[in-house]
This record gives sequence, C-alpha cells and structure tokens, in this order.
Amino acid sequence: MLRARITGVGSYAPPHIVTNDDLEEMMNTSDEWIRQRTGIERRHWADDDISTSDLALEASLRAIENAGIDKESIELIIFATLSPDHNFPGSACFLQTKLGLEGIAALDIRQQCTGFVYAMSIADQYIRTGMYKTILVVGAEVHSKGLDKTPRGRDLGVLFGDGAGAAVVEACEVTDPANDSYVLSSHLHADGRYAQMLWTKVPGMANGPHWLDVESIEKGEYFPQMDGRRVYIHAVKKMPESVREAVEFNGLTVEDIDLFLFHQANLRIIESVGEALNAPPEKVFNTIQEYANTTAATLPIELDEALRAGVLKKGMLVVLSAFGSGFTWGSVLLRW
Ligand code: UT7
Repeated sequence: MLRARITGVGSYAPPHIVTNDDLEEMMNTSDEWIRQRTGIERRHWADDDISTSDLALEASLRAIENAGIDKESIELIIFATLSPDHNFPGSACFLQTKLGLEGIAALDIRQQCTGFVYAMSIADQYIRTGMYKTILVVGAEVHSKGLDKTPRGRDLGVLFGDGAGAAVVEACEVTDPANDSYVLSSHLHADGRYAQMLWTKVPGMANGPHWLDVESIEKGEYFPQMDGRRVYIHAVKKMPESVREAVEFNGLTVEDIDLFLFHQANLRIIESVGEALNAPPEKVFNTIQEYANTTAATLPIELDEALRAGVLKKGMLVVLSAFGSGFTWGSVLLRW
C-alpha cells in the first residue's frame, strides 16, 4: 500500500537567546514565576531583519540534507504558521523562492499550535492518493515581533519563542504494516466556539470598516490575547483524547507507544497529559525549557531534537499530539 514516510527532519532557531531574567524588567515578571508556572527557561528571538520564511528556509535545508534528497524532487510545500511574513500571499510562496523551487505548489495553513499535525495529515492524504510523492512540511514562527513586550503583555509575552522545524515526507510502498516506517494515521479536530479564547483580534475584516485602525492599535488589539485558564483546561482534556483516538483506531494501546511528542505550551500541561495517559516520563520528550512555545514549529523541532539526541530510534511507535488556538487539536501516529 502507498503511504507517507518522514525521511528527513531539520530545525533552526535564531541564535539570540532570551532568558527569563532578561524579561524581568521588560515585563515585570520573574524567572521563578515563569519556571514554576510553565517550565520555560529561555527562548530564541529573531533579529529585526529576519522573518518567518528565513527561519523556515534554514530548517528546510537541514531537513532536505537529512533526507538525502535533491531539493528539486519536492513537489509541494505545506507551510504552517500564525506569524506569516506578510498578510498575503502565504509564506510558502516566499519560502519556495528562497529554496529556488519556482513552479511547485505552495500551501499555507493556519492551525496555530496544531499546525504541524494538520500539515502532516494533508501531506499524508496527498501521498495516499498518489498526487504527490515528495512534500516539504514546515512549521515556523516569529512570535517575538508580535508580542506586547511590556508589563501589560506579560501573561503571553513570556510564553512564546521563535523557531522553525521541517520534515521531508515521501511516498513509500508499505509491505509489512506491522514493522515498516510510515504514517499510520492522523486525526484532526476543531471547535470554533472557543476561537476568542486565544486569538489576535486585529488586523482583520471583522474589525468594522477598516481592517486596522488607530483606535485598535492604541488599545493594543493587534497583540494576541488569551484566557490562559480556559486554554489549559481544554488542552489537558483534548490531548489525551487525541492520543487514545489514535491508538484505538490502529488497534493498539497507549502502552504500545514508544515516544510521546506533545505540543510544548506549558510543562504542567504536558505532565498532566502524560499522567492522564499513564505515559512514563522517560517516554515523553520535551523542548519547552529551551524554546518556549513555538506554536506550529514545536512538533518538528521536537522530532529533530529527539532524533539528534538519540531518543527517537528506528522502529519506534511515535505519537504527536497538539492543542491550540481555534480551538484545534489532533494527533499523528507514525512508526519511525
Ligand atoms: O499552545 C496553546 C496555547 N497556550 C497554552 O496552552 C497556555 C495555557 N495556559 C497556561 O499555560 C497557564 O494558564 C498560564 C501559564 C498562561 C498562566 O498560569 P496560571 O497558573 O493559570 O496563572 P494565572 O493566569 O492564574 O495568573 C496568576 C497570577 C496573576 O496574578 P494574581 O491575579 O493572582 O495576583 C497574574 O497577574 O500571575 C500573574 N501573572 C504573572 N506574574 C508574573 C500572569 N503572567 C505573569 C508573568 N509574570 N508573566
């Protein structure tokens, strides 16, 4: 059977590291508060002349090298981001040109923290139908330029970082489904009733007569806003559900999973999700301490870091699960 396999991964974070201490004065926060409530120790911020597609380019080149393919074999770029280079066109077009791949298909998706899960699912479907054989899936974010870096914005400002991760996804013929390396399944969900629990209100066409106006700028409505408690409550419920859905669909149990890669928004959320699933902590790989929440880039960064740390090994059953703005959530189950 024709299925999708990840044949290469890569990640990149801008070199400028910002510690919790660096934010103390800027946002009237403390290292102690951030560590205790979130587990975050530092994050990376892009320089002024760097944008999302620049980070994506570095991660993509690393993934292409890791896959050992000619970049010319890529037929489609799927770019997941909530922090695009420009309002339009999509960042996949800018990345495509930077990669020198003019003419191939370029698709942006806007599923925030669940972006990589949705993007992998789309890649999987294109490969199963035979439409494409080689797809570059990228998640990249520059959050630092969009945050309120004053005490007013400290509730969100300390949580997010910049970074990018990419995966080369190729078609493969699966002859031994119980042992071959491929994407077994993906499951996607959303509940738009909660859209305003984590969103950026403006700019946008729902903002009355003008998509951006001085009043909204003065009110700071172009900064993201979040009801942290509500997001937390839903995240700790929906991520375990998405993992159970994935294992049950494949006739497996949670105990069969060798490695859990959860979206990295808060270490307390990850620990609660792990406990709800009875997942031993040694099977859960985390990157939040180093990168904070990099939204759509989080899961591909985790894949790359786990691989380079020797934690992700051939033959392992791996579940990726995410939850975020929308609300959106879902899972990808694969054998590495
Ligand atoms: O990727 C998906 C998107 N995001 C998430 O999944 C995040 C989900 N939510 C969370 O992770 C947590 O709700 C937060 C980390 C955002 C907040 O943790 P919390 O334990 O729910 O704290 P809180 O919002 O209840 O705030 C507690 C206190 C407040 O002070 P008072 O009212 O108790 O005096 C805040 O003003 O902490 C204060 N506070 C801060 N203090 C220092 C809020 N932000 C900060 C800060 N530094 N950065």
